[in-house]
Parts: sequence; C-alpha cells; structure tokens
Amino acid sequence: MDRYYLALLGEAGAAGIAKAFYVRFKLQSLETAYKQELTHWRYFRGFRRSRLEMPVYYTLFAAGILISLLGLNVTKRVIRRLETGAINFYLQNFRDDKSVEWILEDERHHMQV
Ligand SMILES: [Fe+2]
Ligand SMILES: [Fe+2]
Repeated sequence: MDRYYLALLGEAGAAGIAKAFYVRFKLQSLETAYKQELTHWRYFRGFRRSRLEMPVYYTLFAAGILISLLGLNVTKRVIRRLETGAINFYLQNFRDDKSVEWILEDERHHMQV
C-alpha cells in the first residue's frame, strides 16, 4: 500500500468519525472539522480510489457514535490522539510534498476542537 492509498482511506475514516462527533455534539468546531476532512478525502480521490472507502467511512462513523456515548471529554481526547496520528503520518510520508501543507494545517486546528 502506498502513501496516497493510506491517506485516502485515512481521510475517509476521518470524515466518518468527524461526522459522528458533529452529529452527536453539534458544535461549530466539529462541523468545520468534518467539512475539512471531506475536502481532504476528496483531494486524495484525485490520486487513488478504493472500494474500501465507504466501508471505512461507515465503520469509523459507527465507532465515533460509540465513543461519543462516553462523553465530550473522552471524545476530545480521542480526537487529539487521532489528529496526532494524522499529523505524524503526513510529516513522515509527505515530508517532500508541499501540496499537502494545507491539510497538515487543518489537522493542527482539529487538535483544538
Ligand atoms: Fe484530514
Ligand atoms: Fe483532522
């Protein structure tokens, strides 16, 4: 699996879980994060497509609903952990690629939701 494929599925999952958190807590910051994850997903669709995108999206949506049942504080902790993972992924795999700089910037903002 190459980095574009991993990023594609990662962002599909990010969009799914972000949607769940937004649906549950209705915060403006969570809506913004959800919409940004969608743009990240769409960006990587320009490089790769996979039949796993929708299954990953719905699996992470379901996981997000379950996590949200544990409350907003737990959810925020999970978000920070996931965004840390995303940031490290981009720093390691797209170090040479300035075209994903805007995505990294978005992920850093998501740390503060
Ligand atoms: Fe993202
Ligand atoms: Fe993010």
